[in-house]
Amino acid sequence: MAAPLKILTVFGTRPEAIKLFPLIHALDADPRFDSRVCISAQHREMLDQVLSIADVAPDYDLDLMTPGQSLDALTARALVEIGRVLDEERPDWVVVQGDTTTVMAGAIAGYYRKIPVCHVEAGLRSGDIYQPWPEEVNRRVVGSFAALHCAPTPTAREALLRENVAADSVHVTGNTVIDALHWVTRRIEQDPQLASGLGDIEKRFAGRRIIGVTSHRRENFGDGMSSIANAVKEIALRDDVGVVFPVHLNPNVRSVMQAALGDLDNVALIEPLDYPHFARLLDICHLMLTDSGGVQEEAPALGKPVLVMRETTERPEGVAAGTARLVGTESDAIVRECLRLLDDEAAYADMARAHNPFGDGASAGRIADLLAGA
Ligand code: UD1
Ligand code: UDP
Repeated sequence: MAAPLKILTVFGTRPEAIKLFPLIHALDADPRFDSRVCISAQHREMLDQVLSIADVAPDYDLDLMTPGQSLDALTARALVEIGRVLDEERPDWVVVQGDTTTVMAGAIAGYYRKIPVCHVEAGLRSGDIYQPWPEEVNRRVVGSFAALHCAPTPTAREALLRENVAADSVHVTGNTVIDALHWVTRRIEQDPQLASGLGDIEKRFAGRRIIGVTSHRRENFGDGMSSIANAVKEIALRDDVGVVFPVHLNPNVRSVMQAALGDLDNVALIEPLDYPHFARLLDICHLMLTDSGGVQEEAPALGKPVLVMRETTERPEGVAAGTARLVGTESDAIVRECLRLLDDEAAYADMARAHNPFGDGASAGRIADLLAGA
């Protein structure tokens, strides 16, 4: 039997960890592979939450997070440190997922050593280099040289083909976020304690409709964040809703949200939830307000209306399916669309339908087969 292929999976933030643990589980269970994991730890607490629930033990932890880190310092350190790991391991493949600084740096470090790069969740494009920023360009950089592009949807594949990426290197695999969501749902079914920690909030907001909120996009820092905070404040004036807002650990988000929403009875500003508890929030909420990428994929799969607080999205499939609507970051528009969903049953029913444009939960196995050349 041929020697197993050595795969080095590199990631650094919460969403990458969520979307890569199904693949890491698949590689670990498959004798065709010798799987190694390197985390940049661009995120710390929010990454560790995922590693713990998914039982992933990294071989390398670069521990790169510093408080309020700048893009250039993070990029430079990630490139050098990931490069060192590649020199030590000399893997057959480097696997990266998505669009963060770790993804771009990890991919370039691979390219500098002529190690083929597999890009998971390839081909998402908004067409605007500043929205999302810097993620749109991170994706384009990796897309320009990856050897294997795992496009989650046909739309993503077409975007890559328009950029003259070789057709035989682009495969529609679905998005591993759906694998992750199925996995965590099964785990909660086996052990409900894993997601029981929202009990106090559920009691506090009993009889009200729960609105889940997340927000963290860099292009929204400043005016956009204040405007989102004002919208949430206005929505929370209603006594028939309870807002549950797990606040991202980026200080640019926390300072604004704490100042604007910290003292409101109808708003539970809480620490980032681990994945089982966030899945529980998705389950109990009436609707989501978010600027997150991953939440735009999970909410349609669960039939939860999601109002996307961005001007544009690189995930048009949720909007096309009718479960997601782009509302921008102006307070008035966010409030108007949210109240419409609260007061107009037909408008709500129109959006609250489960769709699976992002995958069928079997993406990790497809990606493993592609890596093996099967
Ligand atoms: C990062 C990614 C973004 C991704 C997002 C997902 C970049 C430039 N940004 O944004 O693409 O959508 O993650 O959440 O790649 N912090 C902590 N603990 C943590 C995580 C963050 O304290 O566990 C704080 C630190 O002060 C850190 C700051 O947040 O310096 C910013 O983290 P960073 O990874 O640079 O950017 P994010 O806004 O988290
Ligand atoms: N998420 C989580 N806990 C939270 C908020 C989000 O586990 O408190 C999960 C969510 O289910 C999704 C992912 O984190 O899978 C999204 O991460 P984030 O919004 O930070 O990044 P993005 O997807 O925008 O890159």
